[in-house]
Amino acid sequence: MSTTTAVILAAGQGTRMLSTLPKVLHPILGRPLAHYALDAARSATASQPVMVIGHGGDAVRQALGEAAHYVVQEPQLGTAHAVQQAETLLKGRTDYVLVTYADMPLLRAETLTRLVQAQQAQRGPVTMLTVIAEDPRGFGRILRDADGRVSGIVEEAQATPEQLKIHELNVGVYCFSADFLWDALRRVPLSPKGEYYLTDVIGIAVADGLDVQALAAEDAAEMIGINTRVHLAEAAALLRERINRQWMLAGVTLTAPATTYIEPGVAVGRDTVIEPNTHLRGKTIIGENCIIGPNTVIVDTSIGSHCKVLASMLESAVMEDHVEIGPFGHLRKGAYLCQGVHMGNFGEVKNSRLGPGTKMGHFSYIGDAGIEADVNIGAGTITCNFGMDGKKSRTEIGAGAFIGSDTLLVAPVTIGKGAVTGSGAVVTHDVPPDTIVVGVPARPLRAREKHD
Ligand code: UD1
Ligand code: CA
Repeated sequence: MSTTTAVILAAGQGTRMLSTLPKVLHPILGRPLAHYALDAARSATASQPVMVIGHGGDAVRQALGEAAHYVVQEPQLGTAHAVQQAETLLKGRTDYVLVTYADMPLLRAETLTRLVQAQQAQRGPVTMLTVIAEDPRGFGRILRDADGRVSGIVEEAQATPEQLKIHELNVGVYCFSADFLWDALRRVPLSPKGEYYLTDVIGIAVADGLDVQALAAEDAAEMIGINTRVHLAEAAALLRERINRQWMLAGVTLTAPATTYIEPGVAVGRDTVIEPNTHLRGKTIIGENCIIGPNTVIVDTSIGSHCKVLASMLESAVMEDHVEIGPFGHLRKGAYLCQGVHMGNFGEVKNSRLGPGTKMGHFSYIGDAGIEADVNIGAGTITCNFGMDGKKSRTEIGAGAFIGSDTLLVAPVTIGKGAVTGSGAVVTHDVPPDTIVVGVPARPLRAREKHD
C-alpha cells in the first residue's frame, strides 16, 4: 500500500492579523486555527502531518505539541521553499506528499481524501485542488491550453488583465508524487518578488510533458483562508454552522442555531433541546432528552439524560440523570450531582458530591463536601471549607439530614443521618444522627494571630 504524508505550511507571518499571537493559533471554537487543518490532513493521510513553522514557530510548536512533526523554515522564501524544508524528514519515507495550509480551517478531510485518491489513481505527478469562484480573493489563476489541459498557474500579481478574468482558482492544496516533488522543487526559479513559488512546480510538470490533474472542489466555502480577523469570524461562523447542522441532523433541537456554540469535541444525545445563547465547550457530553439553556455555558462537563440546565455555568462537573439546575447555578471542578438532585437559583457546588434526591433550592455554597441521599439544604447554607484551623477541610452530611436556612457548616464537620440544624446555626462540632442542633456557638477564643 502506498503512503501519503501531509506537509502543512504555517511559516508565514500573518501580518494582517495585527497580533502578537501567531495567526494559526488564533482560536476558533476553542481550538487553535491550525488544529482544523491538522485534523483534516491526519485523517486524509492516516499519518502524522509535518508542519512547516517559522514566524512564532516556538509558540506554535508548544501549542500544538504532538499533533505534528515540525520543520523550521528560516528565512521564509516562499511556498516552494517551505515545502522543501520537509524533504530531509520525508524523502524515501512517503510515496505521496499532500501540501496544504494551516490557515484553511474549513477544508474538509473528505475533500483532501478525494484529492489523495485522485492522485493515487493517475500516472501524472500531481493533482491540484481548484475552485471556480466569482470572487478571486487574490488566488492564483489556473491556465489551460487549447485542449483544456492545465498548463500552469499565474499569481494574481503577475497576471495579465486577460488572465485576471479567469475564474478557475488555485486553492494552494496539492497532492504530489514525492519523487517528482523533491526533484522539481530544486528546479523552481526565483520569482520577480524574490520568492520560490510552489505554483511553478505545476509549470515544471507541464514542461516535462507530464500530466497535471485538477480536481474541482465542490464547496467554495471550504477554501476560505484566514488573513484577517474578519476572515477568522467568517470561518468561525461557518464551522459553527457545520457543527450545529450535524447535531440537528443527529436528532438534537437547536432553537436558535445562530447563537449556539458547540465545540468540536462535544457530544449531545437525541431529543435534547439546546436553547439560545448556549455554549458547549471542551469535552462536554450531554445525554438524551435534556433541556439546556438559554444563557448557559458548559465546559468539560458530563450530563446524563432528562436533565435541565437553565441560565447556568458548569465547569468540569458531572450530573447524573434527572438532575435540574438553575437558573443561575454554578458547578465548579469536581461537582458531582447524583440522580434527581435539584439545585435552584444562586447555588454553587465545588468538589462535592450531592447524593440522589438531594435538594438545594436557593443561595448555597457547597465546597469540599460529601452529601448523602435526600438531604435538604436550606436557603443560604454555606460550607465554610476553610475551617477554624485555617485549612481546607471537608463537610460530611448523612442521608435525610435537614440543614436549616442560613446554616454555616464549619469544616471539618460531620452531620449525622437524619440530623437537623436550625436556621442560622453555626455548626462547629459534629452532630450525631437524629439530633436537633440550634444556635451560634461562636464566641471569642483568643486574639487573631498575625498572618501575612
Ligand atoms: C498561494 C499560492 C496561490 C494560491 C493561494 C491560495 C503560491 C506562490 N501561491 O498564494 O496560487 O491561490 O496560495 O491561498 O504558492 N508560507 C510559508 N512559507 C513561506 C510562504 C508562505 O510557510 O515562505 C505559508 C503561509 O504561512 C501560508 C501559505 O504558505 O499558510 C500560503 O502563503 P501565502 O503567502 O499566503 O500565499 P498566497 O500569496 O496566498
Ligand atoms: Ca494567502
